[in-house]
Amino acid sequence: MSGKFITFEGGEGSGKTTIANLLRDKLEKDGYSVVLTREPGGVAIAEQIRDIIVDVNNTKMDSRTEALLYASSRRQHLVEKVIPALKENKVVICDRYVDSSLVYQGIGRGLGIDEVYNMNLFATENILPDLTIFFDIKPELGLQRVYSNKNREINRLDLEKLDFHQKVYDGYLTICDKFPERIIKIDASLSIEEVYQSVYNEVIKHL
Ligand code: TYD
Repeated sequence: MSGKFITFEGGEGSGKTTIANLLRDKLEKDGYSVVLTREPGGVAIAEQIRDIIVDVNNTKMDSRTEALLYASSRRQHLVEKVIPALKENKVVICDRYVDSSLVYQGIGRGLGIDEVYNMNLFATENILPDLTIFFDIKPELGLQRVYSNKNREINRLDLEKLDFHQKVYDGYLTICDKFPERIIKIDASLSIEEVYQSVYNEVIKHL
């Protein structure tokens, strides 16, 4: 595979989706062939799995069920969309990947990072990103952005208490220390323009 696999990670309201769109437009102007996609979802089967995961009525969902569903959705998306694009030499920007599971399920739900990592290595056949950008913003500020954006859909995980989001945030910091060769931290509390510039500068170094 010769393309580049870049993933964006961060808590709710970290702005990664907005920046992903800006980055895609700029890289295309620069002449790269880009695929922008997201998890959970991105292809029909994975979107159907996503609907089950984010449904606010699924209050009985067990944590391991949740982790397995994310991994199933990831597997299908990887095989159907990411791998073929990488084989065609494209730049794949994926909004969330394995690190989200390590943090949300491994730490947030308390399943353990190593357990969730091993299960995900099975799902992905060890395919990890070339570069991961962590959008670093404190959960209080991120959630404030989510709730002030009236057009944004509120999902089952958004409804978790601040304590859960704080655990997720601490989890991301742990993951940054665990994989320093792959993950780069960006200050996401700055303006969109500033965050976008730092992300672009980092990404371009890897292309
Ligand atoms: P989404 O609406 O895509 O949120 P965001 O815009 O913040 O990315 O919803 C995805 C939710 O799923 C989000 O709360 C994070 C969570 N998630 C996990 O818990 N584990 C995972 O492996 C993934 C990919 C996402």
